[in-house]
Amino acid sequence: MTQRQNIMRTAERTRKLTSFKVVDFLEAAGQLEAEGRDIIHMEIGEPRFATATPIIEAAHLALDQGKTAYAPSCGIPELRLAISDHYRHRYGVRIDPRRVIVTTGSSAALGMVFELLVNPGDGFLLADPGYPCNANFVRRLDAEPQLVPVGPEHNYQLTADLVNRHWQANTVGAMIATPSNPTGSVIDRDQMSGLYRAVTSQGGTLVVDEIYHGLTYTAAPPSSALEVAEDVLVVNSFSKYFGMTGWRLGWMVVPETFVDLFTVMAQNFYIASPTLSQYAALAAFQPETLSILDGRCAEFQQSRDYLVPALQQLGFAVAGLPEGAFYVYADVSALTDNCEDFCWRLLNEHGVACTPGTDFGQYRASQHVRFAYTEPLPRLQLAVQRIERALQS
Ligand SMILES: Cc1ncc(COP(=O)(O)O)c(C=O)c1O
Repeated sequence: MTQRQNIMRTAERTRKLTSFKVVDFLEAAGQLEAEGRDIIHMEIGEPRFATATPIIEAAHLALDQGKTAYAPSCGIPELRLAISDHYRHRYGVRIDPRRVIVTTGSSAALGMVFELLVNPGDGFLLADPGYPCNANFVRRLDAEPQLVPVGPEHNYQLTADLVNRHWQANTVGAMIATPSNPTGSVIDRDQMSGLYRAVTSQGGTLVVDEIYHGLTYTAAPPSSALEVAEDVLVVNSFSKYFGMTGWRLGWMVVPETFVDLFTVMAQNFYIASPTLSQYAALAAFQPETLSILDGRCAEFQQSRDYLVPALQQLGFAVAGLPEGAFYVYADVSALTDNCEDFCWRLLNEHGVACTPGTDFGQYRASQHVRFAYTEPLPRLQLAVQRIERALQS
C-alpha cells in the first residue's frame, strides 16, 4: 500500500526536541513492575504521598456541587485571590489577584512565558544543569537555548557575572529555578537582586521558577523574586510542595501589562485549567493543610539527611547538602564514565530507578546521576543496599 509522503511530514523544529529521559526511565520501571519486579522510584520528581485529605475533601464537595463546567481562562477568582493572599502571608508581598494566572501545571505557564518573550532566532540563558523541558520550550519556538555551565563553584545557579559573560546579541532573557532541579540549590535575596539588575540592564526579562518553594531546608525560607521586583515573570505549581502532580495545576504571577496577552493565550491554548482541581486547590492554603505539607517537608529533610552521607560512603561525590527540592545530584565519575549505562543497569539488574545527568544538559552531564528522595525512608535504605550490591558486582 502506498502512502502520501506529505501526510507523514513533520515540522523541522520537532526534530530538535530531545526526549525527557526521566519519563523514559519511569516508563521502563513501570514495565518491569508490570512483570512483577519491585522497583524503588528515585527517578521521577513526585512526592509519594497521596494528596492531603483536606484537598481531596474539597474536590469531593466540588463534585457534589456540580463544579464540572469550564472555568474562566485565567482561573476561578477565589483561587487567584487565595494565591495572592499566599504571597502576602508567606513573603509579605501584595499582588493584585489579576496578575495571578492559573495554568494547567507550571508546564503550561513555562510554555506561555517563552511564547510571550521569544521570537525565532532569539536566545534565552538557561542554567546547565537545569530542568530539561525549558530548552525544548525554547527550541519549539525556533529559538536558541543558551546553556550556561554552572557547577558547585556557582552553587549550580546563574549569577549576575555569568549572565553578563554569556549574554549574546540575540539573548532576550534568562531563567533560573530556585530551589533548582536537579541540584536543589537555592538563591538568596541579594543574588536574586543582582541577577535581576544584570538581566534588566541588558534589556532582557528574568523568569524565575519557584515551584519547589515550601520544600527548603534552610533556616529561613527563600525569598520570592516578587520581593525584588514587579517586572519579573514568576512560575509556580501545586505539584511539588502541595503534592498535587496529577491534578495538573500551576500558576504564574506576571506584570499587569501582560495579563491580557496571557489571557488570550490561555483561552486559545487550553481554554481553562481543570475546574475540579481549582476548587480542590482552594483547600491547599488552609492552615490545616499547610501543617500536613510542612510535616511532609520535614520527612523529606530526614530522607535527605540519610541519603546524602549514604551515597557519599558508596563513592558518589555530592557537594554538600542540597538546600531544597527532593533531589541529590551526585557525581559518579569515581564509579562509571557512562551515567546512562549505569542508570539502566541499576534499573534492569537491581530495581533502582534514577535519572542520568544527561537529562539536564551537557555540562559534565555524563558524570552525574540524579536521585529523588521521595520514597519513604525504609525504601531509600533498601535502595542504598541495592546500589551497594550493584557497585560490588
Ligand atoms: C523545575 C521544574 N519546573 C517545572 C516543572 C513542571 O511541573 P508541573 O507541570 O507539574 O507544575 C518541573 C517538574 O518536575 C520542574 O522540576
